[in-house]
Amino acid sequence: KRVGVLISGTGSNLQALIDATRDSAQGIHADIVLVISNKPGVLGLKRATEAGVPSLVISHKDFASRELYDAELMRNLKAARVDLICLAGFMRVLSAPFVREWRGRLINIHPSLLPKYPGLHVQKQALEAGEKESGCTVHFVDEGVDTGAIIVQAAVPILPDDDEDSLTQRIHKAEHWAFPRALALLADGTALISQ
Ligand code: GRF
Repeated sequence: KRVGVLISGTGSNLQALIDATRDSAQGIHADIVLVISNKPGVLGLKRATEAGVPSLVISHKDFASRELYDAELMRNLKAARVDLICLAGFMRVLSAPFVREWRGRLINIHPSLLPKYPGLHVQKQALEAGEKESGCTVHFVDEGVDTGAIIVQAAVPILPDDDEDSLTQRIHKAEHWAFPRALALLADGTALISQ
């Protein structure tokens, strides 16, 4: 399967996906063929270049509406004959027509054990709530925010002296394990949602 990855930042999850799909021992039937960032100059773009994966910047600032922006995303993903899309730290909500078009072929990673803590600043929320564990979730994207069907979750402990940074780092390690696992399940048809 041909995979497009959408990013906005560091791209450590992108890196994990590139590494895992290129490791034949993992048997993931997927190749990352295109990376799109809505922000110029981010580290994730450099990672794509260094890995020899084509990348594009499509800045939301150049578009008058979310629908027009998403249409340009769609055009580029189709031109690259992308089958599956991974949102790897893509900090934008996608419009309903885009989500509908890619239903069952569009997945996102989120740094909490959904359905707990959708949205932003979730590590801080988990700490403040006194949770004993957190983790990450890879899920299908539907028209809500962080609400779609769950494919893979990985839990990590919250330790007594954790702060937002240390917890974020621990969750990131879990993400780098979970995202390739979820992509593997999607690419071989094990994870699917009824149409
Ligand atoms: C991850 O924590 C992911 O869960 C969230 O954005 C972050 C992206 O990190 N959606 P990176 O750019 O992959 O390093």
